[in-house]
Amino acid sequence: MATAPSPPSPTGPVPTPLADQWDDTVAATLSEPELLLYRSRLLGSDLGITNYGGGNTSAKIAMTDPLTGAPVEVLWVKGSGGDLGSMGLDGFATLYMERLRALEGLYRGLAHEDEMVDYLPHCTFNLNPRASSIDTPLHGFIPYRHIDHMHPDAVIAIAAMRDGQRIAREIFGDEIGWVPWQRPGFDLGLALRNMIRARPTMSGVSLASHGLVTWGPTSRDCYKTTLRIIRQAADWLRARRRPEPFGPVVAPALPEAERQALLTQVAPALRGLLGRHVSKVLHYVGSPAVLEFIGSRRCEELAERGTTCPDHFLRTRVRPLFVPFAPGRDEASALVARLPDLLERYREAYAAYYERCRHPDSPAMRDPYPVLVLIPGLGLLAFQQDAQTARLAAEFYLNTINVMRDAEGVDEYVPISEQAAFDIEYWRLEEAKLRRLPKPKRLHGRVAFVTGAAGGIGGATSRKLLAEGAAVVLTDIDQAALDAEVGECARAFGTDRVRGVRCDVTDEASVAHAMARAAGEYGGIDILVLSAGVASAAPVDETSLDLWRKNMDILATGYFLVAREGFRLLKRQGRGGSIVVVGSKNAMVASPGASAYCAAKAAALHLARSVALEGAEHGIRVNVVNPDAVIRGSRIWSGAWRAERAAGYRIPEDQIEEFYRQRSLLKRSVFPEDVAEAICFFASDASAKSTGNILNVDAGQLAAFPR
Ligand SMILES: NC(=O)c1ccc[n+]([C@@H]2O[C@H](COP(=O)([O-])OP(=O)(O)OC[C@H]3O[C@@H](n4cnc5c(N)ncnc54)[C@H](O)[C@@H]3O)[C@@H](O)[C@H]2O)c1
Ligand SMILES: [Zn+2]
Repeated sequence: MATAPSPPSPTGPVPTPLADQWDDTVAATLSEPELLLYRSRLLGSDLGITNYGGGNTSAKIAMTDPLTGAPVEVLWVKGSGGDLGSMGLDGFATLYMERLRALEGLYRGLAHEDEMVDYLPHCTFNLNPRASSIDTPLHGFIPYRHIDHMHPDAVIAIAAMRDGQRIAREIFGDEIGWVPWQRPGFDLGLALRNMIRARPTMSGVSLASHGLVTWGPTSRDCYKTTLRIIRQAADWLRARRRPEPFGPVVAPALPEAERQALLTQVAPALRGLLGRHVSKVLHYVGSPAVLEFIGSRRCEELAERGTTCPDHFLRTRVRPLFVPFAPGRDEASALVARLPDLLERYREAYAAYYERCRHPDSPAMRDPYPVLVLIPGLGLLAFQQDAQTARLAAEFYLNTINVMRDAEGVDEYVPISEQAAFDIEYWRLEEAKLRRLPKPKRLHGRVAFVTGAAGGIGGATSRKLLAEGAAVVLTDIDQAALDAEVGECARAFGTDRVRGVRCDVTDEASVAHAMARAAGEYGGIDILVLSAGVASAAPVDETSLDLWRKNMDILATGYFLVAREGFRLLKRQGRGGSIVVVGSKNAMVASPGASAYCAAKAAALHLARSVALEGAEHGIRVNVVNPDAVIRGSRIWSGAWRAERAAGYRIPEDQIEEFYRQRSLLKRSVFPEDVAEAICFFASDASAKSTGNILNVDAGQLAAFPR
């Protein structure tokens, strides 16, 4: 298969919205499939043209049948899943056009259209494993070579206006047809074909409450037409929009610092209430455009009308929860106190909507709680089962706000009917898509806070927790080392689930600040790993007070401060949690020449037991992992400790690993990853029935056997 053309990069600079990015010199070097990919990426990388993961493109291309060698016409159409802006050639489904057309003979009418989906795999060209999307018949039956189906805010706005049909005609004349709301599928494909046969001069159609379809004889023509039509709509709307379509701002945005303070109180409470059955992660947006909408007089009324484009509300739910709040006058505690009641009313309303609209064979009701919460003065809080879907839900609502602004700017915003929305939300095919999703990892939706995350054990633990699906807030006192570790984690696991915050565990304010950041970024925490540490060695009579205090400060007081702040946050969420204390073999059994270190580690061990005792009634578990001699990867062992220990045991420094290996019962070295494995066990529900426990990861030390 041909290689993918390079530009534009999905991570490159953001282009000016609706700028014509077609480059004939690039295009001249590309094959037909590559041209389709080039066009798709150009369209998909512009949020003015289509939303993330939304829209699709196609080309009907002459190819050679791999079996017969005969020329055949093949439909290349963006397949199910993925995003236009960042897709590759493998993101396209390929189908024999002849077979696709022949499906019309099997079609038994609208009531049976869902069954047509099962026929699509029979049309596959060249054993392509990419599944076809529900929009495939639309691309197959429209009798043009190149087709774009986009979800541009400006066109959706017109498609969601009370007088949309007339306004579309005023803007586009006869060039763009109007199709009343219809669920995507086989029937829509046939309807569009018939419409085009009757009016062959059209360049596209506007799909009511949904989006735009445009076409052309070449990829270049198609791209240019798509862009021109969207610009025409955007320009027309801009020229006519009345001021303040959402009404005047009645609840102005709180200053940044006050918003952050409010967020750290409200987010954990919401996360606790919303995450009783499934764990959820927050994505917060406090941009000026969002705050303006949420603070405006008509926000509640408009939000209540619901989201319109199916692509949007499948992510956002049809309605967000609007929380009445007078910023600057109401107390945060009053807001938090109102939440349970508001959520209960939302749940009741959702259950009533489900009962009103359900069909005898509808799938069971899904999670009835809101995905989006709008709070005047504060902003938009999106809660989803992981950080990425939470972010996407929030971003989709930004599209909805744009659509409402444009629609209310010239006419009236009228989304699709409740029943039509339900029929999409609980469509058998959507349900099938949900069922096909891979089983979530065991820490999916969980948030971890790790201290000493730039170190050997903290770093390995962060990566392990990320690999198991958690979002992780990495903290450390060493900013440069932290940045490096955060960068590595983000490259390996994506930026959504990784945050870095500098935190000195010995500083009360620093700990409180870092924990507040975790609450603001992800809504709270479920897992707290205490790994920030140092090591020192000195005979007791040579141990200075400074050295004693340093060990106590970091390993005893530091562990206390982080455990206390984390405990408070876990309690505020009210959904339990797991605290894992990285202790040491030296907490169980003292070794010579390290009294400050050993005493501090013993303090941390007993701290863990005390907190376990108090945490139990809140479902907060506390367990201890005791490593020993984790030399490779540990920064402790690259400093003075290595020389001190070698001197203490009277061995050369380069034999230290072998010395410790031989000292263990199993004669094996312990690595940071081994310790991370044990920490992850205590962090996860696999250890749900364990608290106040100890797990040694020390390759076997008789003296340290727990008893
Ligand atoms: N490596 C071992 O052999 C071993 C054995 C037993 C116990 N432990 C314990 O495991 C934990 C992690 O050790 P490691 O081997 O990963 O060491 P490491 O030095 O690689 O990591 C420790 C991290 O803690 C950070 N840190 C130090 N002081 C801090 C402070 N005041 N605030 C915040 N961060 C601070 C350091 O910058 C470092 O990144 C420590 O508590 C250590 O005592 C390690
Ligand atoms: Zn669509």
